[in-house]
Amino acid sequence: METVKCIKERRSVRKFDTSREVSRELIDSVIDVSRFSPSWKNTQVTRYTVLTGDSKNALADCTNTWAGNGDIMRSAPMVVALSIVDKRSGYERDGSPSTPLGNGWQMFDCGISAQSFCLAAFDAGLSTVIMGLYDDNAAEVIGIPEGQILTALIAVGYAAEDPAAPKRKELSDLVTYKN
Ligand SMILES: Cc1cc2nc3c(=O)[nH]c(=O)nc-3n(C[C@H](O)[C@H](O)[C@H](O)COP(=O)(O)O)c2cc1C
Repeated sequence: METVKCIKERRSVRKFDTSREVSRELIDSVIDVSRFSPSWKNTQVTRYTVLTGDSKNALADCTNTWAGNGDIMRSAPMVVALSIVDKRSGYERDGSPSTPLGNGWQMFDCGISAQSFCLAAFDAGLSTVIMGLYDDNAAEVIGIPEGQILTALIAVGYAAEDPAAPKRKELSDLVTYKN
């Protein structure tokens, strides 16, 4: 798919076709694209945990912060949890932060990985939604290893809805030109 079309036409999908699974080969191909995302000094701190079946449904119960995400996860055949290896991206070898942004860079890197993931999924005929609302126990339920931080959950599957694009701000609201 053409890059600009992929970026503009990707939508967050919250209802999935419950009769269609996502194959291991297909999700591997999506993650294979995401791993080419840029990262701080090529530290590549993003990790991917692929959840299906009982482990996915257990995670769906960790959504007291917003029950809507639980419904999304139950409808999706797969949820991919993104986590980051803590304090590598944006840090010196002695553990001190390289910039005043501190651990902001690791979140920045993971965000790029997430966008690459969602675009690659869309290009492969899949739909996604990134979810940032989950309960404090989600990392433990997933089994995120010590030294990593859970960031986003991404529901993945075949769309059972075709949502309209939410309105975007105008360029003039976003851009400042200086010379
Ligand atoms: C960091 C982040 C967290 C988000 N968290 C949620 C969430 O918890 N639940 C949800 O339904 N959508 C969530 N979204 C999806 C946004 O609502 C969606 O991207 C936005 O409304 C624009 O719609 P679009 O993705 O279709 O362009 C999140 C998106 C991002 C980038």
